[in-house]
Amino acid sequence: MEWYNWLFWIVWSIAILMVISYALTIPFGAIYIPTIKDERQKALDLLDLKPGQTFVDLGSGDGTMLILAAQRGWKAIGYELNPFLAIVSWLRTRRYGRHVKVRLGNFWKADVSNADGIFVFLITHHMKRLDRFLIKQARQKDLKVVSNSFEIPGRKYSKKSGPMFLYIYGSKPPNA
Ligand SMILES: C[S@@+](CC[C@H](N)C(=O)[O-])C[C@H]1O[C@@H](n2cnc3c(N)ncnc32)[C@H](O)[C@@H]1O
Repeated sequence: MEWYNWLFWIVWSIAILMVISYALTIPFGAIYIPTIKDERQKALDLLDLKPGQTFVDLGSGDGTMLILAAQRGWKAIGYELNPFLAIVSWLRTRRYGRHVKVRLGNFWKADVSNADGIFVFLITHHMKRLDRFLIKQARQKDLKVVSNSFEIPGRKYSKKSGPMFLYIYGSKPPNA
């Protein structure tokens, strides 16, 4: 086979694998749509973590939110199911060394109870599950959560900035 035939099949295979990887995330969460540039800092401002505290992005896409968090001196951890995006974010965040970690995997199975602030850009039909997930994660300490664009059903947000909703999950039950 000529070299250009090989090239054609390699490009096609990569394109097909990319489409499959993007589509496979749909049952587990939201497909990749990055947070709009002008809104990113609003999410981080709402979380208002101190340097050295831990920020987690549930579904970290290309790693942009992790980079912005690291630039504030926060420890940043991202979970990403799409291997192509995980590779892109590994490459993009390399220069932040141990301050940024990208984990290829399903965030629903992750233990993020060490997080001080969580950012999530999910989709309506996963928000109830997200609420149950966050209740479990906040058993040991209080947890700030910012959701992009989608409110958590049955919960009152404590602040809003543009499309970002801030929620506080408490380690103690209300009135304890
Ligand atoms: C709407 S995008 C948000 C990307 C990034 N957080 C941002 O705001 O720019 C959602 C991301 O979550 C990833 N994702 C969806 N479900 C996931 C899961 N269960 N575990 C890990 N990543 C997931 C998708 O592949 C996608 O990159």
